[in-house]
Amino acid sequence: MKICMIGAGYVGLVSGSCFADLGNFVWCVDKDKQKIDMLNNNQIPIFEPGLKDLINKNYSSGRLKFTTNLNLAVKNSDIIFICVGTPTSNKKGSADLRYVYNVVAELSLYINKFKIIVTKSTVPVTTGDKIEKIILKKRRKKLFEVVSNPEFLREGEAIRDFRFPDRIVIGANSKIATKKLKSLYDPLIKKGAIFFSTNRRGAELIKYASNAFLATKISFMNEISNLCEKTGVNVEDVSIGIGLDKRIGSRFLRVGPAYGGSCFPKDTKALTFTGTLFKTDLSIIKSVIKSNEKRRIFLTERVKKILSNKIKNKKVTFLGVTFKPNTDDMRQSSSLLMIPYLHERGAKINYYDPSGEKKEFSRLKNVFFCNDINEACEKVDLVIIHTEWDEFKSLDFKKLYRKRKFKIYDMRNLYSPRDMKKQGFSYHSIGRQN
Ligand code: UDX
Repeated sequence: MKICMIGAGYVGLVSGSCFADLGNFVWCVDKDKQKIDMLNNNQIPIFEPGLKDLINKNYSSGRLKFTTNLNLAVKNSDIIFICVGTPTSNKKGSADLRYVYNVVAELSLYINKFKIIVTKSTVPVTTGDKIEKIILKKRRKKLFEVVSNPEFLREGEAIRDFRFPDRIVIGANSKIATKKLKSLYDPLIKKGAIFFSTNRRGAELIKYASNAFLATKISFMNEISNLCEKTGVNVEDVSIGIGLDKRIGSRFLRVGPAYGGSCFPKDTKALTFTGTLFKTDLSIIKSVIKSNEKRRIFLTERVKKILSNKIKNKKVTFLGVTFKPNTDDMRQSSSLLMIPYLHERGAKINYYDPSGEKKEFSRLKNVFFCNDINEACEKVDLVIIHTEWDEFKSLDFKKLYRKRKFKIYDMRNLYSPRDMKKQGFSYHSIGRQN
């Protein structure tokens, strides 16, 4: 099929190259000329395992093309995916749909034959209706269908998530559109992906409800871990014990720092805003947002306690600063609050992250990026495992200890408290007896 992805960001690039890999012809369009030039010169603007090879393969085969020319791409495509950002817009937390509506207004000028216009960007329920109205204002004849097909791609695992999705959700108000999208996804359906179709508003809401529910699971376990610490229960046992109940499910019950990233914080806020708009109090999601905000502070207080309430002149190392492993994304990472907090109180911070140095910390005088783990852990008082990169999963602490013994705060529960104690380390983790 002939496809156009508008927005060569995370969603557009991953989905576009995966669609091309399934044998489709894909145009990836972006206004950002620099980005398109990079892509046409074999450079990838985002960090995602496997993406470079996938893009190279499909670019060389001629099935994947990059352009700034929206007219050309729309005219030559049957299905158009809108993959532009929907950031948080104001203090109330609604989704900023400016980019979506701008794209819609422009593409409506180029509709030369029947097109299916799909929102892959996360858009609040009823956005599809507004998109339809915008296009109808410019084109009297309804030569198009607006469909919702939310993405469920996790950063760092996006290609795998695209190829082996739990489900493909299509929200369409017309049978033709559902049929066409079903045939686009047919290679994945044949491999076992479940295809679920509903109406357009339904699909829009499924996306937000999914993310809000996952965020709720995480925050719920994080709060339970606080109780575990007080009662001598191992939170991992609780996660396993409840996760074995199929009604609950075992995934997304890992405790850790506040959840972050480009989706959960933004989408939970946007959903409560939608609730307000439709006079519906989404009190559970509101309290998840609050609980997650408190979590950032709670863990920072814990760091203070581990340092015996003396932060000034203490040397603290962060292993990992991104919100999760296998990405260079810093958006809403809890390290963005923790590091400045400790820095303001006189701590000296070393950090190492496999995805490299971060501009977010470049202005902080006593925050230093280190090139490797050894350098980061030399002569420090406390090592915090903040992000669960594979590199941090089997560290030789005895070797790292050489010059000074440090305390360890493992915020991802990567090690066994019992083994660490046996080896004589001062080890702290989350929701477990240390
Ligand atoms: C998420 C959704 O999973 C994906 O379906 C959606 O389309 C985009 O948003 P992403 O933000 O890439 O994906 O990361 P995800 O793996 O979901 O993790 C989000 C946050 O939750 C991270 O901060 C992670 O550390 C945290 N998390 C996740 C936990 O704390 N515990 C868990 O068990 C799982």
